[in-house]
Parts: sequence; C-alpha cells; structure tokens
Amino acid sequence: MGTKILGTGVYLPKEVLTNEDLEKLVDTSDEWITTRTGIKERRIARRESVVEMATKASRDALSDAGVKPEELDLIILATLTPQMRFPSTACLLQAQLGAGRVYAFDVSAACSGFLYALDVADSFIKSGKANRVLVVGAERLSEAVDWSDRSTCVLFGDGAGAVVVGKSRDGSDILASRMYSDGSLKELLYADACGYIRMKGRELFKHAVRSMDEVCREVLSLAGVKPEEVDLVIPHQANVRIINALAEKLGIPKEKVFVNIERYGNTSAASIPIALHEAVREGKLKRGDLVLLTAMGGGLTWGAMLLRF
Ligand code: ACO
Repeated sequence: MGTKILGTGVYLPKEVLTNEDLEKLVDTSDEWITTRTGIKERRIARRESVVEMATKASRDALSDAGVKPEELDLIILATLTPQMRFPSTACLLQAQLGAGRVYAFDVSAACSGFLYALDVADSFIKSGKANRVLVVGAERLSEAVDWSDRSTCVLFGDGAGAVVVGKSRDGSDILASRMYSDGSLKELLYADACGYIRMKGRELFKHAVRSMDEVCREVLSLAGVKPEEVDLVIPHQANVRIINALAEKLGIPKEKVFVNIERYGNTSAASIPIALHEAVREGKLKRGDLVLLTAMGGGLTWGAMLLRF
C-alpha cells in the first residue's frame, strides 16, 4: 500500500505586482530582478487573508480529488505567515472547510514547509492512522516583507497550494524522502523583531544548491533510481539561477525541471504545491511519472522526496 496524491488545487490572488511597479517603490530595475532571480511579477493578497487563500486552494484540491471535507482525517498546513499566533492556521482552515473535528496542525519549516508536511502525511497514511489527508502550503508573504528593503522585497509573493493524499493501490507512491534541519545557520534567513524577512542572499544561494543537490542524490539512491530516470523535477521556486545550478549538478536537463518563478516569485511553503498543480494542468506531469520534489528554506531546513505520481 502506498500514498497517492488524489488531487491538487491552488489559489492565486488576482493582483499582480510587476518588476516595473517595484521600480517605483525601491531603487531597483526589471533588468536586475530578472537576471538575478528570473522573477518578472508576483501576486499580492491585498484583501485575502492566508486562511481565505488556503480555503480556496483546499476546496479546489478536494474537488479535484473527489473527496468531501467531512471525509478528511487530518489537515496539515505549512506557513511562515500564520493568521494568528494561535489557534493554528490549520484549525482556522478546518472551520472554514466544514471538515469534521479532525486532527489539524501547522508545520513551521519556511520554504521547506510543504515537503515536511507531505512527509508527515505520508507517515500517517502508511501507518494506517489516516486515510485522507489535506496538505496545504499557504503564504501571505507581502505582510512579512520590508517594502523599503530592495534586497528582499523583490523576491516574494503570495498564494496557496494544496493536495489531498490517500491510500494507493495502483503503484502511485511516495517512494523515498529525507528532511533535514540545521538551526545553527538561522542567521542566514529569519524574521526580525518586526516580523520582516532578513537574509544573507549570497551565502544562502550556495547552501541551497549544495544541500538540495545532496539530498536529491540521497533520495534517488534510497529509491534505486538514476537521475536520468526522473521524468520531472519540481524544485522550490526561490531563484531560477539556483534551480539551473541544481539541475546542472544533478545532470538533469532543463526541459525536465518545472519553473514558474517568473509569474509568482518565491511563495515559500506554497511554491511546490502551486508548481505541482500547474505541472499537472499543463500536462507536464502524468500518472505513473517519477517526480522529484526538493526545497530549502529558513531554519535552515531542506529536503527532497521522490514520487511515482
Ligand atoms: N535591485 C538592485 N540592486 C540590488 C537589489 C535590487 N533589488 N538587491 C540587492 N542589490 C544589489 C546589492 O546591494 C549589491 O550591490 P553591491 O555589489 O554594490 O553591494 C548587488 O546588488 C549584488 O547583491 P547580491 O546580494 O550579491 O546579489 P546576488 O547575485 O547574490 O542575488 C539574491 C541576490 C537574488 C537574493 C540571491 O543571492 C539569492 O537568490 N539567494 C538565495 C535566496 C534563497 O534561496 N532563499 C531561500 C528560500 S527563502 C525562505 O525560506 C523564506
């Protein structure tokens, strides 16, 4: 018995903030942002709360999976922008969805949050403690960005993505995964006393490429799969140069690497489920494909997961 992604969903705020718009806010240029990051625009949640975005993405995923909210056993939500200190955003989501009185909790692992959450969901399914799990990544990073700091405000965007996972009897499965943390590197990426994101970009860049390369290799080796056998890589969308460097190190051609950072920027825990949903919708990810997910974020945290979709 394996773990299968039964359905995917997203919510992206309508409001678009382009690089040209940012040129009016801080001393930057479309040329700098595009060449250094690959980002052209991002979405901004002016009116939507993180719970509203999570709810819309979850309804989309539940409908895609053909699962009713009351059939869920567990809700795991990854975010670094929780709506309240407590209750958890997962509990607020449970109420909005009208799910039963299910087990619901948040995961805090910054940009690796969705992978951490999906890994926990996999353990619940495989141990038999849950049959249907909703896993959500939702972020309202526009509220965690210092809009006067050009080194960070150009990077982030808002949005939510969700998947419903359940038992598989058709060969779909999470074949291998590894998650890591190293809190001694916390000063590379953290929220300051005002809650604003601060980062040492250049050092993080190197850590991101190295750690994701290592953990991807480890996961492939655990599953006995060669890099060339992977059909699609869906990396966390932090910087297209990180993604390209990772693909080159792994020896996986760019055509097999999913990138949508130009439209959404870095949406932290939401980036992988949004990309996963778009990959399915665009026909780039089909049932039976081998897909490699990987992320690195504040903590530091990082991880990778290989799925038979
Ligand atoms: N516009 C114009 N110039 C800028 C901007 C900007 N928006 N931001 C910085 N600069 C300037 C800097 O001041 C610096 O100028 P100087 O040389 O005169 O000092 C110059 O551009 C180069 O700055 P660097 O920081 O060295 O630029 P770099 O090429 O490293 O790119 C970036 C910066 C995009 C942040 C990159 O380092 C990066 O992507 N790092 C990793 C980010 C990441 O992976 N984060 C992890 C996930 S996020 C999470 O977990 C929440």
